Amino acid sequence: PGGGPLAGKRVLVTSGPTHEPLDPVRFIANRSSGKQGHAIARAAADLGADVTLVSGPVSIPDPPGVTVVHVETAREMLAAVESHMPVDAAVFCAAVADWRAAQPGEEKLKKDGSGAPSFSLVENPDILATIAKRTEARPTLVVGFAAETEKVIEHAQSKLARKGCDWIVANDVSHAGPGVGVMGGDRNTVSIVSQAGVENWPTMGKDAVATRLAERMAKQLKDTQWV
Ligand code: C5P
Repeated sequence: PGGGPLAGKRVLVTSGPTHEPLDPVRFIANRSSGKQGHAIARAAADLGADVTLVSGPVSIPDPPGVTVVHVETAREMLAAVESHMPVDAAVFCAAVADWRAAQPGEEKLKKDGSGAPSFSLVENPDILATIAKRTEARPTLVVGFAAETEKVIEHAQSKLARKGCDWIVANDVSHAGPGVGVMGGDRNTVSIVSQAGVENWPTMGKDAVATRLAERMAKQLKDTQWV
């Protein structure tokens, strides 16, 4: 409750990796820390939004002032996101696993001397594209992320079109040194890519990126009210 430029707005954020089971004790995962997504959820709440954070398994704490839904797999993440629609803005920061095992073992797989198991993989749903391409109850503002090492803007622009979202936060990971734009690091160099053009932001801490993004979202939601 209270004021703030996002007061009265519902914001949904995805964050962290997903875990896709191979058997009851093993999974496919990635190195996403959840730092950027969690910081965005917190920044939006600090600006007065009603925030739901759908998080994959991370080792960082739940941000204060935010409703957190914990999930493991991409399909659970999609279901949680869909059940929290409609929202004014949705930010897809999670590093969703592209594939999952078609048939994970129901019991722990054993080393039984017959060689290594093989898995066939199937594609996970694209959560960002699913929400961005909704015809009913689509969020006013749909934001995706893209980590690129080269042709950052070009790739972000084609991702914008392919996914059907409004903004891509393009992450230049080409100069990825310790702590700069790498998964798990504390700093990030981003450009905001939309139909309207490209905004290049200086390298900043992930918290500062989050605050600036939340402020930019508040401005966008305010502007679209009058269209
Ligand atoms: O296609 P790519 O993985 O590069 O796209 C990244 C963007 O798409 C991120 O915003 C990510 O959260 C989102 N995404 C998603 N569901 C997937 C794959 C990516 O929401 N299955």
